[in-house]
Amino acid sequence: MLMTTKPMFDLAYDGGFGIGGFNVNNMEMTQGIIEACAESRSPVILQISKGARAYANIRFLKHIIDACVEEYPDVPICIHCDHGDTMPLMQECIDDGYTSVMMDGSHHPYDQNVEITKAAVDLAHANGVVVEGELGKLGGIEEDVVGLDAAEYEANIEQFLTDATEAKDFYAKTNIDSLAVAIGTSHGAFKFTKAPKLAFDRIEQIMETCPGLPLVMHGSSSVPKEVAAKINEFGGEMKDSMGVPEDQINMAVQKYGVCKVNVDTDYRMIMTATIREVFAKNPAEFDPRKYLGPARTEMKKMCKQKLEMLNCVGKADEVIAHWKNQGEPMPAFYEKAKAGV
Ligand code: G3H
Ligand code: 13P
Ligand code: ZN
Repeated sequence: MLMTTKPMFDLAYDGGFGIGGFNVNNMEMTQGIIEACAESRSPVILQISKGARAYANIRFLKHIIDACVEEYPDVPICIHCDHGDTMPLMQECIDDGYTSVMMDGSHHPYDQNVEITKAAVDLAHANGVVVEGELGKLGGIEEDVVGLDAAEYEANIEQFLTDATEAKDFYAKTNIDSLAVAIGTSHGAFKFTKAPKLAFDRIEQIMETCPGLPLVMHGSSSVPKEVAAKINEFGGEMKDSMGVPEDQINMAVQKYGVCKVNVDTDYRMIMTATIREVFAKNPAEFDPRKYLGPARTEMKKMCKQKLEMLNCVGKADEVIAHWKNQGEPMPAFYEKAKAGV
Protein backbone atom coordinates (compact mmCIF):
# COMPACT_ATOMS: atom_id res chain seq x y z
CA MET A 1 0.00 0.00 0.00
CA LEU A 2 1.42 3.33 -1.09
CA MET A 3 1.86 6.00 1.59
CA THR A 4 4.16 8.74 2.82
CA THR A 5 6.64 8.14 5.63
CA LYS A 6 4.37 9.96 8.09
CA PRO A 7 2.35 7.00 9.38
CA MET A 8 5.56 4.94 9.50
CA PHE A 9 7.53 7.52 11.48
CA ASP A 10 4.58 8.36 13.79
CA LEU A 11 4.83 4.82 15.11
CA ALA A 12 8.57 4.30 14.75
CA TYR A 13 9.63 7.38 16.74
CA ASP A 14 8.43 6.05 20.08
CA GLY A 15 7.90 2.47 19.02
CA GLY A 16 11.49 1.27 19.23
CA PHE A 17 11.81 0.39 15.56
CA GLY A 18 13.13 1.91 12.34
CA ILE A 19 12.18 1.72 8.67
CA GLY A 20 14.68 0.64 6.04
CA GLY A 21 15.44 3.24 3.38
CA PHE A 22 16.67 0.79 0.78
CA ASN A 23 18.04 1.92 -2.61
CA VAL A 24 16.77 0.17 -5.72
CA ASN A 25 18.18 0.28 -9.25
CA ASN A 26 16.64 -2.66 -11.08
CA MET A 27 14.00 -5.37 -10.94
CA GLU A 28 15.98 -8.00 -9.03
CA MET A 29 17.03 -5.62 -6.24
CA THR A 30 13.48 -4.36 -5.88
CA GLN A 31 12.05 -7.87 -5.83
CA GLY A 32 14.58 -9.10 -3.27
CA ILE A 33 13.61 -6.28 -0.93
CA ILE A 34 9.86 -6.36 -1.38
CA GLU A 35 9.67 -10.14 -1.03
CA ALA A 36 11.62 -9.92 2.24
CA CYS A 37 9.34 -7.14 3.50
CA ALA A 38 6.20 -9.04 2.54
CA GLU A 39 7.36 -12.21 4.30
CA SER A 40 8.52 -10.24 7.36
CA ARG A 41 5.38 -8.09 7.39
CA SER A 42 7.52 -4.95 7.43
CA PRO A 43 6.94 -1.43 6.08
CA VAL A 44 9.58 -0.19 3.66
CA ILE A 45 10.91 2.94 1.97
CA LEU A 46 12.06 2.16 -1.57
CA GLN A 47 14.43 4.91 -2.52
CA ILE A 48 15.65 6.06 -5.89
CA SER A 49 18.82 8.10 -6.33
CA LYS A 50 19.50 10.42 -9.25
CA GLY A 51 21.90 7.75 -10.48
CA ALA A 52 19.15 5.14 -10.37
CA ARG A 53 16.78 7.41 -12.28
CA ALA A 54 19.40 7.83 -14.98
CA TYR A 55 20.51 4.18 -15.04
CA ALA A 56 17.15 2.49 -15.22
CA ASN A 57 15.11 5.29 -16.83
CA ILE A 58 12.67 6.34 -14.13
CA ARG A 59 9.70 5.23 -16.23
CA PHE A 60 10.88 1.61 -16.01
CA LEU A 61 11.88 1.80 -12.34
CA LYS A 62 8.63 3.47 -11.33
CA HIS A 63 6.62 0.75 -13.03
CA ILE A 64 8.61 -1.90 -11.16
CA ILE A 65 7.79 -0.15 -7.88
CA ASP A 66 4.16 0.31 -8.90
CA ALA A 67 4.11 -3.45 -9.46
CA CYS A 68 5.26 -3.90 -5.83
CA VAL A 69 2.39 -1.71 -4.64
CA GLU A 70 -0.08 -3.75 -6.70
CA GLU A 71 1.39 -7.15 -5.89
CA TYR A 72 1.77 -6.52 -2.13
CA PRO A 73 -1.21 -4.42 -0.98
CA ASP A 74 -0.51 -5.34 2.65
CA VAL A 75 3.02 -3.92 2.65
CA PRO A 76 3.27 -0.21 3.52
CA ILE A 77 5.47 1.27 0.78
CA CYS A 78 6.89 4.77 0.48
CA ILE A 79 8.60 5.86 -2.76
CA HIS A 80 11.38 8.25 -1.87
CA CYS A 81 13.87 10.41 -3.80
CA ASP A 82 17.31 9.85 -2.24
CA HIS A 83 19.71 12.82 -2.17
CA GLY A 84 17.63 15.09 -4.38
CA ASP A 85 19.30 18.46 -4.73
CA THR A 86 17.39 20.72 -7.14
CA MET A 87 13.87 22.08 -7.41
CA PRO A 88 13.33 20.74 -10.96
CA LEU A 89 14.17 17.25 -9.63
CA MET A 90 11.69 17.72 -6.75
CA GLN A 91 9.00 18.64 -9.27
CA GLU A 92 9.82 15.64 -11.47
CA CYS A 93 9.66 13.24 -8.54
CA ILE A 94 6.34 14.67 -7.38
CA ASP A 95 5.00 14.39 -10.94
CA ASP A 96 6.28 10.81 -11.09
CA GLY A 97 4.21 9.89 -8.01
CA TYR A 98 6.88 9.70 -5.31
CA THR A 99 5.39 10.09 -1.83
CA SER A 100 8.56 11.44 -0.23
CA VAL A 101 11.57 13.47 -1.37
CA MET A 102 14.91 14.33 0.15
CA MET A 103 16.25 17.80 -0.44
CA ASP A 104 19.92 17.44 0.40
CA GLY A 105 21.30 20.95 0.74
CA SER A 106 23.99 19.89 3.20
CA HIS A 107 26.81 20.81 0.82
CA HIS A 108 25.54 24.42 0.63
CA PRO A 109 26.25 27.17 3.15
CA TYR A 110 23.65 27.02 5.96
CA ASP A 111 21.37 29.85 4.76
CA GLN A 112 21.23 28.40 1.28
CA ASN A 113 20.42 24.98 2.70
CA VAL A 114 17.52 26.54 4.64
CA GLU A 115 16.29 28.36 1.54
CA ILE A 116 16.32 25.42 -0.85
CA THR A 117 14.91 23.00 1.73
CA LYS A 118 12.08 25.39 2.58
CA ALA A 119 11.26 25.73 -1.13
CA ALA A 120 11.14 21.93 -1.43
CA VAL A 121 8.85 21.67 1.60
CA ASP A 122 6.45 24.30 0.25
CA LEU A 123 6.22 22.51 -3.09
CA ALA A 124 6.03 18.99 -1.69
CA HIS A 125 3.50 19.72 1.06
CA ALA A 126 1.19 21.39 -1.44
CA ASN A 127 1.21 18.03 -3.24
CA GLY A 128 0.81 15.76 -0.21
CA VAL A 129 4.45 14.69 -0.32
CA VAL A 130 6.80 14.70 2.69
CA VAL A 131 10.37 16.03 2.82
CA GLU A 132 13.62 14.85 4.40
CA GLY A 133 16.28 17.54 4.89
CA GLU A 134 19.94 17.11 5.80
CA LEU A 135 22.24 18.97 8.16
CA GLY A 136 25.84 18.08 8.94
CA LYS A 137 28.43 16.24 6.84
CA LEU A 138 28.94 12.54 6.21
CA GLY A 139 32.14 10.94 5.05
CA GLY A 140 32.51 8.66 2.04
CA ILE A 141 31.10 8.82 -1.46
CA GLU A 142 27.51 9.70 -2.20
CA GLU A 143 26.04 10.08 -5.67
CA ASP A 144 28.46 12.14 -7.76
CA VAL A 145 29.56 14.10 -4.69
CA VAL A 146 32.81 12.72 -3.29
CA GLY A 147 32.56 13.30 0.44
CA LEU A 148 35.37 13.70 2.87
CA ASP A 149 38.29 11.33 2.72
CA ALA A 150 37.60 8.37 5.06
CA ALA A 151 40.71 8.78 7.21
CA GLU A 152 40.31 12.54 7.47
CA TYR A 153 36.64 12.16 8.35
CA GLU A 154 37.34 9.50 10.95
CA ALA A 155 40.05 11.57 12.61
CA ASN A 156 37.99 14.78 12.78
CA ILE A 157 34.48 13.38 13.01
CA GLU A 158 33.34 15.62 15.87
CA GLN A 159 33.50 18.78 13.75
CA PHE A 160 31.26 17.33 11.04
CA LEU A 161 28.41 16.15 13.28
CA THR A 162 25.02 17.85 13.12
CA ASP A 163 24.81 20.76 15.54
CA ALA A 164 21.73 20.48 17.78
CA THR A 165 21.13 24.25 18.05
CA GLU A 166 21.42 24.66 14.29
CA ALA A 167 19.03 21.71 13.84
CA LYS A 168 16.41 23.50 15.95
CA ASP A 169 16.69 26.61 13.79
CA PHE A 170 16.65 24.52 10.59
CA TYR A 171 13.53 22.65 11.67
CA ALA A 172 11.71 25.85 12.62
CA LYS A 173 12.60 27.61 9.37
CA THR A 174 11.95 24.75 6.94
CA ASN A 175 9.13 22.67 8.49
CA ILE A 176 10.74 19.45 7.25
CA ASP A 177 9.14 16.09 8.05
CA SER A 178 12.41 14.32 8.92
CA LEU A 179 16.07 15.20 9.25
CA ALA A 180 19.11 13.29 8.02
CA VAL A 181 21.77 13.78 10.65
CA ALA A 182 25.53 13.33 10.72
CA ILE A 183 26.11 11.23 13.83
CA GLY A 184 29.16 9.25 12.82
CA THR A 185 28.02 7.25 9.79
CA SER A 186 29.57 7.42 6.33
CA HIS A 187 28.54 6.54 2.76
CA GLY A 188 29.99 3.75 0.65
CA ALA A 189 32.05 0.59 1.21
CA PHE A 190 35.13 2.23 2.69
CA LYS A 191 33.89 3.90 5.82
CA PHE A 192 36.24 3.36 8.75
CA THR A 193 39.57 1.80 9.61
CA LYS A 194 38.43 0.86 13.12
CA ALA A 195 35.06 0.11 14.72
CA PRO A 196 33.13 3.37 14.85
CA LYS A 197 30.97 4.58 17.71
CA LEU A 198 27.81 6.44 16.81
CA ALA A 199 27.45 9.78 18.58
CA PHE A 200 24.47 8.85 20.75
CA ASP A 201 24.99 11.93 22.92
CA ARG A 202 24.57 14.10 19.83
CA ILE A 203 21.36 12.27 18.88
CA GLU A 204 20.02 12.96 22.37
CA GLN A 205 20.84 16.65 22.04
CA ILE A 206 19.07 16.86 18.67
CA MET A 207 16.05 15.06 20.13
CA GLU A 208 15.94 17.68 22.87
CA THR A 209 16.15 20.68 20.54
CA CYS A 210 13.83 19.14 17.92
CA PRO A 211 11.29 17.14 19.91
CA GLY A 212 9.39 14.57 17.87
CA LEU A 213 11.33 15.19 14.64
CA PRO A 214 12.06 11.81 13.01
CA LEU A 215 15.79 11.36 12.42
CA VAL A 216 17.39 9.60 9.47
CA MET A 217 20.71 7.78 9.39
CA HIS A 218 22.38 7.72 5.98
CA GLY A 219 25.49 5.65 5.32
CA SER A 220 24.28 2.79 7.50
CA SER A 221 25.70 -0.23 5.69
CA SER A 222 27.62 -2.61 7.91
CA VAL A 223 30.02 -3.70 5.12
CA PRO A 224 29.98 -7.36 6.27
CA LYS A 225 33.46 -8.87 6.43
CA GLU A 226 32.26 -12.24 5.12
CA VAL A 227 30.67 -10.65 2.06
CA ALA A 228 33.80 -8.62 1.28
CA ALA A 229 35.83 -11.82 1.73
CA LYS A 230 33.59 -13.68 -0.70
CA ILE A 231 33.93 -10.96 -3.32
CA ASN A 232 37.72 -11.19 -2.98
CA GLU A 233 37.74 -15.01 -2.91
CA PHE A 234 36.07 -14.99 -6.31
CA GLY A 235 38.31 -12.46 -7.99
CA GLY A 236 37.20 -9.11 -6.59
CA GLU A 237 39.28 -6.40 -5.03
CA MET A 238 37.52 -4.96 -2.01
CA LYS A 239 39.78 -3.06 0.39
CA ASP A 240 39.54 -3.95 4.05
CA SER A 241 37.11 -1.64 5.85
CA MET A 242 34.71 -1.38 8.79
CA GLY A 243 31.04 -0.47 8.43
CA VAL A 244 28.45 0.63 10.98
CA PRO A 245 28.02 -2.13 13.58
CA GLU A 246 24.56 -3.71 13.60
CA ASP A 247 24.19 -3.49 17.38
CA GLN A 248 24.66 0.28 17.22
CA ILE A 249 22.04 0.64 14.50
CA ASN A 250 19.70 -1.49 16.58
CA MET A 251 20.31 0.76 19.59
CA ALA A 252 19.70 3.91 17.48
CA VAL A 253 16.25 2.72 16.38
CA GLN A 254 15.26 1.12 19.69
CA LYS A 255 16.30 3.79 22.14
CA TYR A 256 16.51 6.97 20.09
CA GLY A 257 14.40 8.88 17.56
CA VAL A 258 16.09 7.34 14.53
CA CYS A 259 13.18 6.30 12.30
CA LYS A 260 14.87 5.68 8.92
CA VAL A 261 18.07 3.79 8.21
CA ASN A 262 19.57 4.00 4.71
CA VAL A 263 21.31 0.97 3.22
CA ASP A 264 22.62 0.62 -0.31
CA THR A 265 26.23 -0.58 -0.22
CA ASP A 266 25.56 -3.89 1.61
CA TYR A 267 23.02 -4.88 -1.03
CA ARG A 268 25.43 -4.02 -3.82
CA MET A 269 28.04 -6.15 -2.13
CA ILE A 270 25.85 -9.22 -1.64
CA MET A 271 24.73 -9.09 -5.28
CA THR A 272 28.32 -8.77 -6.45
CA ALA A 273 29.54 -11.60 -4.21
CA THR A 274 26.80 -13.94 -5.41
CA ILE A 275 27.29 -13.20 -9.08
CA ARG A 276 31.06 -13.56 -8.77
CA GLU A 277 30.62 -16.93 -7.08
CA VAL A 278 28.31 -18.21 -9.83
CA PHE A 279 30.78 -17.20 -12.54
CA ALA A 280 33.80 -18.54 -10.66
CA LYS A 281 32.14 -21.90 -10.07
CA ASN A 282 30.60 -22.15 -13.51
CA PRO A 283 32.50 -20.06 -16.06
CA ALA A 284 30.31 -21.52 -18.81
CA GLU A 285 27.18 -19.91 -17.41
CA PHE A 286 25.60 -17.35 -19.71
CA ASP A 287 21.94 -17.31 -18.69
CA PRO A 288 21.33 -14.07 -16.72
CA ARG A 289 18.58 -15.78 -14.73
CA LYS A 290 21.17 -18.18 -13.34
CA TYR A 291 23.19 -15.39 -11.73
CA LEU A 292 20.65 -12.62 -11.20
CA GLY A 293 18.22 -15.13 -9.63
CA PRO A 294 20.67 -16.30 -6.90
CA ALA A 295 21.72 -12.66 -6.35
CA ARG A 296 18.07 -11.74 -5.76
CA THR A 297 17.68 -14.66 -3.31
CA GLU A 298 20.76 -13.62 -1.32
CA MET A 299 19.62 -10.03 -1.31
CA LYS A 300 16.26 -11.11 0.10
CA LYS A 301 18.03 -13.04 2.89
CA MET A 302 20.15 -10.01 3.73
CA CYS A 303 17.10 -7.77 3.72
CA LYS A 304 15.33 -10.05 6.21
CA GLN A 305 18.30 -9.76 8.57
CA LYS A 306 18.22 -5.98 8.24
CA LEU A 307 14.51 -5.93 9.06
CA GLU A 308 15.26 -7.91 12.26
CA MET A 309 18.02 -5.45 13.14
CA LEU A 310 15.57 -2.57 12.62
CA ASN A 311 12.98 -4.26 14.85
CA CYS A 312 10.36 -3.66 12.20
CA VAL A 313 9.32 -7.25 11.56
CA GLY A 314 5.54 -7.52 11.96
CA LYS A 315 4.90 -3.75 12.00
CA ALA A 316 3.12 -3.58 8.62
CA ASP A 317 -0.43 -4.02 9.93
CA GLU A 318 0.00 -1.43 12.69
CA VAL A 319 1.28 1.10 10.18
CA ILE A 320 -1.59 0.47 7.77
CA ALA A 321 -4.16 0.73 10.57
CA HIS A 322 -2.61 3.97 11.81
CA TRP A 323 -2.57 5.41 8.31
CA LYS A 324 -6.22 4.55 7.69
CA ASN A 325 -7.21 6.13 11.01
CA GLN A 326 -5.40 9.40 10.43
CA GLY A 327 -7.84 12.26 10.31
CA GLU A 328 -5.64 14.26 7.95
CA PRO A 329 -6.90 15.01 4.47
CA MET A 330 -5.15 12.83 1.92
CA PRO A 331 -4.52 13.71 -1.71
CA ALA A 332 -6.46 11.79 -4.29
CA PHE A 333 -3.85 9.17 -5.08
CA TYR A 334 -3.57 8.11 -1.41
CA GLU A 335 -7.34 7.97 -1.18
CA LYS A 336 -7.37 5.61 -4.15
CA ALA A 337 -4.65 3.45 -2.63
CA LYS A 338 -6.46 3.45 0.70
CA ALA A 339 -9.61 2.27 -0.98
CA GLY A 340 -7.58 -0.45 -2.68
CA VAL A 341 -8.27 0.95 -6.15
O1 G3H B 1 24.00 7.70 -0.93
C1 G3H B 1 23.92 7.37 -2.11
C2 G3H B 1 23.36 6.07 -2.52
O2 G3H B 1 24.16 5.01 -2.12
C3 G3H B 1 23.05 6.06 -3.99
O3 G3H B 1 24.18 5.87 -4.77
O4 G3H B 1 24.01 7.50 -6.67
O5 G3H B 1 25.38 5.46 -6.88
O6 G3H B 1 22.90 5.33 -6.85
P1 G3H B 1 24.12 6.06 -6.40
P1 13P C 1 25.51 3.11 2.46
O1 13P C 1 26.49 3.52 1.44
O2 13P C 1 26.12 2.96 3.82
O3 13P C 1 24.74 1.88 2.10
O4 13P C 1 24.44 4.30 2.61
C1 13P C 1 23.42 4.46 1.65
C2 13P C 1 22.72 5.76 1.77
O5 13P C 1 22.89 6.52 2.70
C3 13P C 1 21.79 6.13 0.69
O6 13P C 1 21.29 7.41 0.83
ZN1 ZN D 1 22.73 8.77 1.73
